[in-house]
Amino acid sequence: FKVPAVDNEPMRSYAPGSAERKALEAALAQMEKELPFEVPCVVNGKPVKTGKLAKQPIPSDHARHLCSYHEADQATVAAAIDGALAAKTQWEALPWNDRAAIFLKAADLVSGKYRYKLMAATMLGQGKNAWQAEIDAAAELSDFFRFGVKYVEELYSQQPVKNAPGAWNRVEYRALEGFVLAVSPFNFTAIGGNLPGTPALVGNTVVWKPSPAATYANYIVFQILTEAGIPPGVIQFVPGPPAEVVGQAISHPDFAALHFTGSTYPRIVGETGGKNFHLVHSSAEIKNAVMQSVRGAFEYQGQKCSALSRLYVSSSVWNAGFKEQLVAEVAKLKVGPAQDFTNFIGPVIGRPAFDKITGYIKKAKEAGGEILVGGSAHSFLTKDPKSITMVDEIFGPVLTVYVYEDNDFEKTLDLIDTSTTYALTGSIFAQDRQALLRATNRLRNAAGNVYYNEKCTGAVVGQQPFGGARASGTNDKAGSIAIFYRFVSARSIKENF
Ligand code: ALA
Repeated sequence: FKVPAVDNEPMRSYAPGSAERKALEAALAQMEKELPFEVPCVVNGKPVKTGKLAKQPIPSDHARHLCSYHEADQATVAAAIDGALAAKTQWEALPWNDRAAIFLKAADLVSGKYRYKLMAATMLGQGKNAWQAEIDAAAELSDFFRFGVKYVEELYSQQPVKNAPGAWNRVEYRALEGFVLAVSPFNFTAIGGNLPGTPALVGNTVVWKPSPAATYANYIVFQILTEAGIPPGVIQFVPGPPAEVVGQAISHPDFAALHFTGSTYPRIVGETGGKNFHLVHSSAEIKNAVMQSVRGAFEYQGQKCSALSRLYVSSSVWNAGFKEQLVAEVAKLKVGPAQDFTNFIGPVIGRPAFDKITGYIKKAKEAGGEILVGGSAHSFLTKDPKSITMVDEIFGPVLTVYVYEDNDFEKTLDLIDTSTTYALTGSIFAQDRQALLRATNRLRNAAGNVYYNEKCTGAVVGQQPFGGARASGTNDKAGSIAIFYRFVSARSIKENF
């Protein structure tokens, strides 16, 4: 059989007065009325209320919280692992098309029945505005599920092309021995679904620890997967204190793999962060480079691993209006709660993030950075291309600009490549084709996702496989067939006849 054709989920406009705007506003109002919610752990299909309650605050209003969730304790994590191991044999033995059907149905639930609820939870709980929530919770999540099914079909069909006379060789792709631990971040609800979904689709069972700052949206994703038909035990939902839950899981003898996005682990299978750049050549079209830089740096408050944070601009472009346009565009960005549709910049995810970000702003000022625009979309100009905000990942709305002499283009390429060990995303702005080519060749180690004349965020499933190497992760490319190879173990079988 062939699985159905897939395509990217179309994006809706949310223009004032549109049907989707009304539906989303209604979902937000309903959620505001009903909150706070209570979220249990779910082990073997059954809610587990440990009584150890933690809160997911609303980032634009710390006096309220979106949900209280039961933190998994040791016994709950142990039960989740045992259950996942017990569920594995049957899950893996299920014909592949049955597993595929569950994920295709989950995709339709995400983009249909639960679209606005999931978006509302992402907006209220993670501080995303409507358009950022649409890209994430509606489009990217359903894309991950639908395209995942297509990629796995392709993976399973990859077979040896040669057989000696009288023999038939084949390869089967088995799930890993043991259980997979998925540890998902706050900043994309889509990644919340993808981290347990990808290994489960190829027959693994998964213990899933969502980010404390995204518990409610991730719980809705879990409920969607359940409604779509994921059997009990295949994905275990265990929110809880990261160090304890992860520590217990990875020291278990049947721990098979870690699928995570975050910042706290050494190299395993993961996506860990970035210090992403835009390089603006003297031939660049100025207005476009400015607008793309503003979006790349400040959409979702810069809290994307792909967000722009170091901007290298040629001095002739800088002096020909780039500076004034950048300052004017950044100063225009409206700040406030993300659920208010007129705001571009919402809250950062929480107090520790706020303190970290303002700490960097202070350090940059002390180091002599010139403030171009202050406040909630902070922009600096630095004379030192290795100053702290040019090299450290900040994960917030802070952009640092370094202006290079046009003659120093080659030197600037060296600088971009060697200033950090991150290598996630980067964009080159130039109308001169030779400049694009030179930069692309020289910046071989600087980014896993490269864009020409466009911002360095917003990779689309099935279109730009996403991920970076070096300090940015294992470059296993979410949204492509490559990631699935990491969650199967191939076995060759030769039969003579
Ligand atoms: N995949 C997301 C992006 O490209 C992080 O912005």
